[in-house]
Amino acid sequence: MARSGVVAVIGAGFYGSTTALRLAEYNIFEKVVLTDILEGKAEGLALDMNQSRSIEGFETRVVGGTTSADGAGYEVIAGSDVVVITAGLPRKPGMSRMDLIEVNAKIVRGVAENIAKHAPNAVVIVVSNPLDEMTALTALATGFPKHKVMGQAGMLDTARFTNFVAEELKVPVASVQTLTLGSHGDTMVPVPSRCTVDGKPLADLLPAAKIEELVTRTRNGGAEIVGLLKTGSAYYAPSSAAARMAKAVMEDSGAVMPVCAWVDGEYGISGVYLGVEAKVGKNGIKEVVETQLTDFEKSELLAAAEAVRTKQADVKSL
Ligand code: APR
Repeated sequence: MARSGVVAVIGAGFYGSTTALRLAEYNIFEKVVLTDILEGKAEGLALDMNQSRSIEGFETRVVGGTTSADGAGYEVIAGSDVVVITAGLPRKPGMSRMDLIEVNAKIVRGVAENIAKHAPNAVVIVVSNPLDEMTALTALATGFPKHKVMGQAGMLDTARFTNFVAEELKVPVASVQTLTLGSHGDTMVPVPSRCTVDGKPLADLLPAAKIEELVTRTRNGGAEIVGLLKTGSAYYAPSSAAARMAKAVMEDSGAVMPVCAWVDGEYGISGVYLGVEAKVGKNGIKEVVETQLTDFEKSELLAAAEAVRTKQADVKSL
């Protein structure tokens, strides 16, 4: 099997290291690069992952590297086709994602500038929080075309919603289709009209109040896990989502995924990074795909766009 392409993951914390391992285990990349600002952390994790190769049966090599705030060490990401930014602080119980904005903006801005310098042709997938704002900041700080920068949120929120529906109805997750759009936060927009189980509308299978309960649990899905972990935030489902997006880029698959993408006219919304469905391929976002929404869902999406627009305008000064 021919392996090709280089994907770099910046930040070797829980999210970054799990993403790197998932990417390596796909066994499609020539190389996975993992970096961190803590001396030796990424190198140690890379060594450990490589030692699992003969057991798990993958040949992709993981290369670790230490970077510093002045940009030293970033040569290791040269030639990357895809870069996933996971650097940044996670939430603690009681914090909203927005509470991380100042500290993570400094980290993400620095990382983005170094990506522009060392991997100027890469597609960038942002996962650091607050997601919509960090995605906008990355586009700004890299200077990359908007379609080459996207954020991971909708894949995760949708997967959470799907899991809750499957558990409620005691059906396989594979029979459930759900969708969430909007922001990765309070203005997340679950789209019940696009939710089905074995092709049947969710609304025919569950009472409206129960669907609303699952929607609320989905919207608070990250906080529920933060509350249980107490020292950090989720990373298994988030890394699955980010790794799938990187794979779609590398394979130029054109898969339609819910992602945080630059919206320019779709749904009558312009000039904002927002959770929408989009075709993902080797140049990033090939096309934002508009889906049929009910009037209520559309009004929620418009409200989400305006809420994140204000915050995204603020990131310029961070
Ligand atoms: N460059 C590279 N790595 C950095 C930098 C930097 N400038 N600053 C911090 N890091 C690294 C930390 O050293 C740490 O290893 O980022 C890593 C963050 O890891 P964790 O604390 O385990 O956090 P994690 O759960 O991985 O979450 C990372 O994803 O979901 C979001 O809100 C979450 O913003 C957070 C990010």
